[in-house]
Amino acid sequence: MKILIVGDIVGSPGRKVFANTVTRWKADGKIDFVVANAENSAGGRGITPKVADELFSAGADIITLGDHVWDQKDLIPHLAVEQRLVRPANFPPGCPGRGYTSVVLNGVKISVISLIGRVFMPPNDCPFRCADALLRNKGALGDIIIVDFHAEATSEKITLGRYLDGRVSFFCGTHTHVQTSDETILPKGTGYITDLGMTGPKDSSIGRDLESVTKRFLDNMPSQFKVAKDDVVMEGVLISVDERSGNTKKIKRIRERL
Ligand SMILES: [Fe+2]
Ligand SMILES: [Fe+2]
Repeated sequence: MKILIVGDIVGSPGRKVFANTVTRWKADGKIDFVVANAENSAGGRGITPKVADELFSAGADIITLGDHVWDQKDLIPHLAVEQRLVRPANFPPGCPGRGYTSVVLNGVKISVISLIGRVFMPPNDCPFRCADALLRNKGALGDIIIVDFHAEATSEKITLGRYLDGRVSFFCGTHTHVQTSDETILPKGTGYITDLGMTGPKDSSIGRDLESVTKRFLDNMPSQFKVAKDDVVMEGVLISVDERSGNTKKIKRIRERL
């Protein structure tokens, strides 16, 4: 199974490069299944039902979210009905939405789990124990399990990735919007990268307009960050997973310019 996993999609430039590339790659048979983090896809802040539908139409099979999940209020009722949207599983019990979802493609069951970090991030439940609880029922999750760990600190990402080695098919980090060059297959067969990177404008500060972000650092005054426009890329990984063992066999880092 050839799976594309895409780093944080930022605003309309990110959606454009995603649609342009993924539609083509799916039509060409280069990829079978697509997971995308899209927590910044609506003007850089969260996601709306309309934007989610646009990304599903462009070829996303599952969309993961992160700390910006609640930025767009009309998403909250939509999370109850749209099974293909996944917010972090270690949010407090009782909050809307689901922490993982499963789909069957050509007889292969694929599950995608979202988790969020606790280092330099707002407080949430323990992602390690949450992953343990979900994987206790590993049989129900199916043949291929993908984890998106939305976190700031590389140490937390590396440690959780290693902790889950051999228990999931692929583990990636998101949230920093900066792609790491450490893609690898861990000793027990789990594919790994610390951060997928960003799908959006590179001529920016992690996707936002440089002028407004620089001003904020200089004067510390609240300001609206606009989404930048130029040098638009799609970043992520293209992996090949053996559905019998559930292990990653190949991993290739992606940086595709519009
Ligand atoms: Fe984030
Ligand atoms: Fe993000």
